[in-house]
Amino acid sequence: MDSGDFFSLARAVHVLGVVLWIGGVAFVTTILLPSLMKITDSENRLNLFEALEGKFAFQARIVTVITGLSGYYMLEVMNAWERYQHIQFWWMHLMTFIWFIFTLVLFVLEPLVLHRLFRKQAIKNSDQAFALIHRMHKILLTLSLLAVFGAVAGAHGFQF
Ligand code: HEM
Repeated sequence: MDSGDFFSLARAVHVLGVVLWIGGVAFVTTILLPSLMKITDSENRLNLFEALEGKFAFQARIVTVITGLSGYYMLEVMNAWERYQHIQFWWMHLMTFIWFIFTLVLFVLEPLVLHRLFRKQAIKNSDQAFALIHRMHKILLTLSLLAVFGAVAGAHGFQF
């Protein structure tokens, strides 16, 4: 296998990571949270959310690392760091930004503060807490889909 093969494999691994990761975010945003918000018993709702989202967070941590490493490898091989200095590569900025936000939330904020904070808020006012977390997911999903769109178009020759 030559370095070109490794590069193609890194791209395939990168996209696989993105599919699992952003696909999971889409499921949580468009199916899981709206369904949970229909449950009237707020304790049951919170317990279900913690069990299901907790399982997804574990998977998301793994794919975040894989996507970041494969992306970094491609950048290094292409020696494309100067793309960050050009606005037409906004999709590179957006990809990196999304990766950074998820890494921060999954590895630092969620275990240290967000988990406790959300539980407290959900016990105080469940509807409000779930509406807020749903809004956050919608924003992140929209930005992620925009990044996927921009990255595929940009990586395959579209000039923004
Ligand atoms: C630190 C984080 C990341 C880095 C360093 C990175 C880097 C890269 C690089 C270098 C490419 C190849 C571009 C080219 O061929 O011109 C790429 C492609 C791509 N990235 Fe990322 N990426 C990161 C995170 C993400 C995230 C979070 C997403 C999804 C939201 C994403 C989605 C994609 C997609 C869809 C492609 C296009 C694959 C193709 O069609 O060939 N990346 N990324």
